[in-house]
Amino acid sequence: MKIAVIGMGYVGLVSAVSWARAGHKVIGVESNEEKLSLLKAGKTPFFEPGLETELKLALESQALHFSKEFLTMELMSIESLVTNSLSNKSAILGAVDLFFLCVGTPILPNGLFDLTDLFEAVDSLVVPENSSLSIIIKSTVLPGTTAQVEARLKDGFEKLGKVFKGSVWFAPEFLSEGTAMSDTINPSRVIIGGNSEVFKESKLGQFILSVTPASTPIVITDWASAELGKLASNAMLASRISFINEIGQVADTVGADINLVAKIIGLDPRIGSKFLKAGVGFGGGCFPKDTTALKNFGAMHGASTDLLTAVISTNEKAKLGFSERVIKRFGEPHGKTLGILGMAYKEGTDDIRNSPSLKIIELFTQAGGKVVVYDPLIARDKLERLGVEAKASWEEVAQMVDLITILTADPQFVNLDWQKMRAIYSGTIIGDGRRLYSKKILTKLGLNLIT
Ligand SMILES: NC(=O)c1ccc[n+]([C@@H]2O[C@H](COP(=O)([O-])OP(=O)(O)OC[C@H]3O[C@@H](n4cnc5c(N)ncnc54)[C@H](O)[C@@H]3O)[C@@H](O)[C@H]2O)c1
Repeated sequence: MKIAVIGMGYVGLVSAVSWARAGHKVIGVESNEEKLSLLKAGKTPFFEPGLETELKLALESQALHFSKEFLTMELMSIESLVTNSLSNKSAILGAVDLFFLCVGTPILPNGLFDLTDLFEAVDSLVVPENSSLSIIIKSTVLPGTTAQVEARLKDGFEKLGKVFKGSVWFAPEFLSEGTAMSDTINPSRVIIGGNSEVFKESKLGQFILSVTPASTPIVITDWASAELGKLASNAMLASRISFINEIGQVADTVGADINLVAKIIGLDPRIGSKFLKAGVGFGGGCFPKDTTALKNFGAMHGASTDLLTAVISTNEKAKLGFSERVIKRFGEPHGKTLGILGMAYKEGTDDIRNSPSLKIIELFTQAGGKVVVYDPLIARDKLERLGVEAKASWEEVAQMVDLITILTADPQFVNLDWQKMRAIYSGTIIGDGRRLYSKKILTKLGLNLIT
């Protein structure tokens, strides 16, 4: 099929590449010039395991092209747009069958999602020549947004004296950064919000059935259930993290090992072991904004949001509490250097959106200290844009700092050579934001472990 994917972030790019590799003709639309030129050169603007290799293959096979032009297409047909914007005429896609909207939905100061990018992308689809569009929202949105998008399209066509004969669907994305490629090829479930009566015969239905493994559950439901189901899934995972972090605080006061407590809980098949790792809290581009927006949306509609409120505040306390414990034990940061190993919000990604590392940097630098960081997956220039000094290895950091905190469970840090660390690190405090290490072993080496 001929597919347009709008927004080349984690969701859009991984989807576009995976579908091109599955044999579809895909055009990836990206408004950011810097990202666009990287993509055209076969380079990914962010790190995701396996993605760059697959991107290069997709470009070589001419199944994938990138363009910025959708925003200015107005009266042009998609076909002529593609003809005009692609240099290789043999690769012209022709009319597009499916439009996937994968733009960001960040949080507004009022605590709800900012739909500016989504609506801008929707408006760019109001073209008179092809009114039977299939538009699929993959961005995470609040209940009611898909209905708003349909109304906006109808309105846009009406203004052009046309009738919108297309269909609007909501197909939430459940990928995890770090495993995004395999999550897309082998999803845990496919959820489609839209008209179940026409789904199977629709272009979207044919497409989904062609790219989804037979064993994957497919649920076709109404828009609002799909929209809420996606947000509630993220809120559930975030709740588990806040829950185990709260139990972790109790564990510390009684000398219990929270990793063993989590194991005991997780062995119950009714509970399961995932997302029960205590640490410095959740971050990233999804959990913080999705839990916040869901809480505010619920409150706005008169629903009780006590649990979501607690999930969010427990997470803030996890980030702040860890940073304060480490700094308190260390003493006055003024004139001292903090070393951070792992800046991303979790291992396996270079995403630093809402990363817990930002909290300790803020506190330490505000108190007059300096920060030096190393992250195996994040380019040094990207880190230095945050106002910190970046190094090429953990050893370089360790030998020049007064205090170390480890904030991602990257394999390099999980399997840290502690003898080597002891030899090059002149400090005695190790802040373990992911509860990776044994207090006993580190104490024997003369190190104080703070969790
Ligand atoms: N990142 C994840 O792990 C993940 C997982 C599931 C769902 N989601 C949801 O998917 C959506 C996208 O997330 P993301 O992390 O991929 O976002 P992102 O911010 O990484 O990427 C969005 C991209 O869209 C581009 N863009 C914005 N407006 C555009 C327009 N009008 N035309 C073309 N391009 C445009 C931006 O420049 C950016 O590159 C969000 O709603 C997010 O909540 C994200």
